[in-house]
Amino acid sequence: MFKTLKEDIEVVFEQDPAARSYLEVILTYSGLHAIWAHRIAHALFKRKFYFLARVISQISRFFTGIEIHPGAKIGRRLFIDHGMGVVIGETCEIGDNVTLYQGVTLGGTGKEKGKRHPTIKDNALIATGAKVLGSITIGENSKIGAGSVVLKDVPPNSTVVGIPGRIVVQNGKKIKKDLNHRDLPDPISDRIHEMEQEIKRLREEIENLRKGEKENANSTL
Ligand SMILES: CC(C)(COP(=O)(O)OP(=O)(O)OC[C@H]1O[C@@H](n2cnc3c(N)ncnc32)[C@H](O)[C@@H]1OP(=O)(O)O)[C@@H](O)C(=O)NCCC(=O)NCCS
Repeated sequence: MFKTLKEDIEVVFEQDPAARSYLEVILTYSGLHAIWAHRIAHALFKRKFYFLARVISQISRFFTGIEIHPGAKIGRRLFIDHGMGVVIGETCEIGDNVTLYQGVTLGGTGKEKGKRHPTIKDNALIATGAKVLGSITIGENSKIGAGSVVLKDVPPNSTVVGIPGRIVVQNGKKIKKDLNHRDLPDPISDRIHEMEQEIKRLREEIENLRKGEKENANSTL
């Protein structure tokens, strides 16, 4: 128990260069307060004290701006930076060493029943404002870019950005982007360009022939 609390504090120092002292972290880091409140609420939830668990979760939300459903399963060393606007749904499962920034939603799509919230594997990072929705899995060491909306599984060691989220980096290598509309191939324009080149070449050839004829005429005079 104390080991877990100590780890919760240590991870703040590791992740936030602005953290200066234990007192400051313990008293002023709302992400830490929300995680500690959740550890109590989750213990009560598991013992079927659903109402009390929910009350604690809502009090924590009031003070921190972070809403974690008491049913969510959270691993060790979760770091929630800034916190405000973070929502973690009931059937979420979060591994170890995960980082969440402000405005992250780990929510449902409204279409699923039962397990309807994401599973976030170890060492994942979900950047500010990202929405990860549905019973999907974000793989180990993966990053979700700021403002992305992710609706499909993300393999391990990947970076996903955009709406809808697409993989831009995997295992350290950049992935070619989807073609843009303005980059789509245009065979008609290509053919016209080829014909223009051909006309230009023929004009030059005719010009050379004319020059040759003139020179021949001059030399015979
Ligand atoms: C996604 C992120 C984690 C970086 O991951 P990374 O694996 O190092 O990826 P890169 O920085 O190499 O970016 C890969 C590509 O995605 C683009 N990209 C990165 N973040 C993006 C985003 N949020 N939206 C759209 N595109 C994004 C980059 O421009 C780059 O494109 P390029 O290949 O055309 O240059 C980072 O960009 C991010 O979103 N950080 C936000 C952290 C945060 O929330 N901070 C708030 C603190 S208060």
